Amino acid sequence: MKGILMAGGKGTRLLPITGGVSKQLLPIYDKPMVYYPLSILMLADIRDVLIISTREDIVLYKRLLDDGSQWGLSIDYAIQKKPQGIAQGFLVGKKFLGTSSVCMVLGDNVFYGPHLEPQLMKAKNNASNKQIATVFGVSVNNPQQYGVVGFNEHNTAISIEEKPKHPPSNVAVAGLYFYPNSVIQIASKISFSKRGELEITTINQQYLYQKALEVVPLGNSFTWLDTGSPESLLEASQFIHTIEKRKGSKVACLEEIAFEKGWITKTDVLTVARQMNRTAYGQYLINKYL
Ligand code: TTP
Repeated sequence: MKGILMAGGKGTRLLPITGGVSKQLLPIYDKPMVYYPLSILMLADIRDVLIISTREDIVLYKRLLDDGSQWGLSIDYAIQKKPQGIAQGFLVGKKFLGTSSVCMVLGDNVFYGPHLEPQLMKAKNNASNKQIATVFGVSVNNPQQYGVVGFNEHNTAISIEEKPKHPPSNVAVAGLYFYPNSVIQIASKISFSKRGELEITTINQQYLYQKALEVVPLGNSFTWLDTGSPESLLEASQFIHTIEKRKGSKVACLEEIAFEKGWITKTDVLTVARQMNRTAYGQYLINKYL
């Protein structure tokens, strides 16, 4: 399985901040936003990653993330010429994906909670070996702003609608999706929506109609943050600050994850940590691994 991380878009809800910088490079407390979704791909044991962004911004991601080898990853880059929807990522990434199944994660989504790794592994196995797609459902107080799942009386998902005026439930689809390779073909056949985008919700609907979609609830002890507005950006920083301070551990510390996975050595971790020894991030790694 390969990973696609969507780091393009318009960022209109964060203007004027995003007038000069790509949204997913903005800080969530102590690290760039893009570290959080990248850490999710790493937790899913995905080491081949494609970063998709705009023509202007892709160079900034290359500068920040390089070829990924510092974390035992292989990172490629591709340009989405216009922000014509999340599902366009499968067409931009067609060559990169080849015959692989795919996990797509949105560059502005933060996930934090227990028992995520087994869920990721199950979703990966479903997509790679059973031709079943997986999305994750989270209860939110503003479902109108997301793709929303409708359920029947047996709690089985029966519909997914994009930004519905009258949501059938408060369960939103989070920005983390697992698909078999057939998603490329599906993406190449769908039409642009009224707002001019290839919608990820249309893809999810197709798998749902084929009875090949699992909607996995992330549960109440799980936190999913979309960081696309000034308030949610601030809240995400405050949340990560609180968690990291209270627990004495870091969320989305890429060197830590790579080391724990056995992809890089202690020497590799400490080399990076020493370059950052004036930050709490660097000190955390030095204290943990020296
Ligand atoms: P959105 O938050 O839906 O859109 P946006 O980032 O353009 O922001 P705004 O609504 O404020 O204008 O995008 C979700 C994620 O997907 C985000 O990380 C950007 C990314 N994205 C792309 O990479 N390409 C696209 O065409 C779209 C629509 C989004």
